[in-house]
Amino acid sequence: MSDARPVGFFDSGVGGLCILDAFRRLCPDEATVYIADSENCPYGNKPAEEIVRLSERNTARLLGRGCKMVVVACNTATAAAIDFLRASHPDTPFVGLEPAVKPAALRSKTGIVAVLATQGTFNGRLYNETKAKFAKDVTVIATVADEFVEIVENAFRGVADPAAAELPRTWGPEVERIVRAKIEPLVNAGADKIVLGCTHFPHLKGVIEAVCAGRAEVIDPSGAVARQAKRILAERGLLRAP
Ligand code: DGL
Repeated sequence: MSDARPVGFFDSGVGGLCILDAFRRLCPDEATVYIADSENCPYGNKPAEEIVRLSERNTARLLGRGCKMVVVACNTATAAAIDFLRASHPDTPFVGLEPAVKPAALRSKTGIVAVLATQGTFNGRLYNETKAKFAKDVTVIATVADEFVEIVENAFRGVADPAAAELPRTWGPEVERIVRAKIEPLVNAGADKIVLGCTHFPHLKGVIEAVCAGRAEVIDPSGAVARQAKRILAERGLLRAP
């Protein structure tokens, strides 16, 4: 059995392209549709009800394009809206994202981990439940990094079809300065795991790793989310045959 319908992805902007990229590498036969809601970006400081409304609109557009599954490629939208989306579309499988606090806490040797995310993600039930369950014995430094979202959105401004564009791999000295100002204090505070809890941040992974210089591991969830999406497609018999 083969299901040729596309897999849908949405994010508040271009952050989720990192997830899309990982998924395309893992499942090159799948067709994909990506919605970057950049005109409403950032979601990070919006009220939860507004994020639910925008997420529902993005989902409706993806389903209107015939998508067989929706990947909510945004931690903030997942935190605010995934329960609503699953309840509203019971026949559609959804894959969401939450900061990888569990592996970070389990692997930390210093007992200190830093999570970079939006305020909306930190306010959400998923993050707080996971933290209470798996990170009660470690110190979690929760850090909002909205300036990183802006940097990444600016890098794609004017690009007509971001999902078809090459992802930026190198960044200038000004970006390096901003990233260093955010990351250096976390490493100096003893964090040996830096969790990228917002899908815009893997775009800056190379710069963040350069600042960490081997002192902390950067945890990027993109590959794990892509594998989870593939697993769900396989379980439901929705994979597209080569
Ligand atoms: N990409 C979104 C996330 O993963 C956040 C960016 C925003 O504030 O809109 O949380």
